[in-house]
Amino acid sequence: VPGSPAVRPPLGWNSWNAFGCNINEAKIRGAADAMVNSGMRAAGYQYVVVDDCWQATTRDAAGNLRSDPVRFPSGMKALGDYIHSKGLKFGIYQAPREETCAQYFNALGGATGALNHEQQDATTFASWGVDFLKYDWCSPWGTLNDQIAGFTKMRDALRATGRPIVYSINSNSAHSNTGPSYNWSNVADMWRTTEDITDRWSTGCRADCFMGVTEILDVQAPLAAWAGPQHWNDPDMLEVGVRGTFTPTQNRAHFSMWAMMAAPLIAGNDITTMPADVRDVLTNPDVLAVNQDSAGRQARRVRDFGETEVWAKTLADGSGAVALLNRSGSTATVSTTAAEIGMPAAGSYTLADVWTRASRNTAAAISATVPPNGVVMYRVRTGSSTPTTSFGLRGVGSGRCLDVLGGAPTDGA
Ligand code: DGJ
Repeated sequence: VPGSPAVRPPLGWNSWNAFGCNINEAKIRGAADAMVNSGMRAAGYQYVVVDDCWQATTRDAAGNLRSDPVRFPSGMKALGDYIHSKGLKFGIYQAPREETCAQYFNALGGATGALNHEQQDATTFASWGVDFLKYDWCSPWGTLNDQIAGFTKMRDALRATGRPIVYSINSNSAHSNTGPSYNWSNVADMWRTTEDITDRWSTGCRADCFMGVTEILDVQAPLAAWAGPQHWNDPDMLEVGVRGTFTPTQNRAHFSMWAMMAAPLIAGNDITTMPADVRDVLTNPDVLAVNQDSAGRQARRVRDFGETEVWAKTLADGSGAVALLNRSGSTATVSTTAAEIGMPAAGSYTLADVWTRASRNTAAAISATVPPNGVVMYRVRTGSSTPTTSFGLRGVGSGRCLDVLGGAPTDGA
């Protein structure tokens, strides 16, 4: 929404995908520490978001929210202070109806949703130093208009606190994809476009079910016009590194595509134990630069060959970014041209591979051999430059020195 602090897609970490309801204050503090120690903070990550299950089952006598006394005994203000002391920002979760999502599904019991407490809860969050609110409908009740009214009420309550708080909404849990049918740009800073993501490349399912990376791409592709600074389509949090399910190739492809879509990049893995290759995916500066570009454009799917696709966007400096995506289980060649991805006419172009860091020149054709479930992603600039060879895929080794020293040329340049 206008005035939002989310002028770029928010970068952060959220407790849900790795831990679900199994959270406590030590885990959240550990995540804040890891955000610093892993280099994620230096790469631009800011928000540490506590998802569902932090609340006590009842409000206090004055109707104020309070944290679960066993799992968050120090309280949320103290947790926020700790996160801030690390130079990071504090995110929290609440729901617009009677119950939070976990309360609704009866994992915890209680009913401390924000209904009829909207301003009181917004004021509480501001007093705790909250910088980001995830607001999760998670109720079978109501129409789209009811959702618009409920989400708008909290938008106004947050504004009334005077504190800049990123407002992240999820309209569609327990519903059939209300996300893709309504443009929430005037209500929220980021809005979920799909059902919950899971750590699968594909689930074959698009509504009222867990979705894989590829199904989410299909739902979000037509929504590109809605995205921009202070209003982002949210294809859900990252599964990069979650439970170690994805291969390194799948991790890079998932992260590349979310970056191309100008999606909020909210890591969902346990960052206290992540291996170096996962850390190197999450902190790749060339991919993050495409995601954080000031023009804030969501890439468009300019070619859909079925199992392979071409996604492209133009960045604020006039350069381009292109992702050659192979959804299939076998190696494929994916091709496009500079004109097709929206580059201005020029005699030559430089293609810089954001993962191998090799660059080469081309007259107009952009083509690569793409591994199964993989992406080749280039930053494209007009004019030619001295080709460079690969320095090896980030994360292939176990430390940063290998990133610089290892690897053989891979692209024939
Ligand atoms: C549904 C959301 O989509 C998830 O991301 C998570 O917030 C859960 N609710 C929490 O119960």
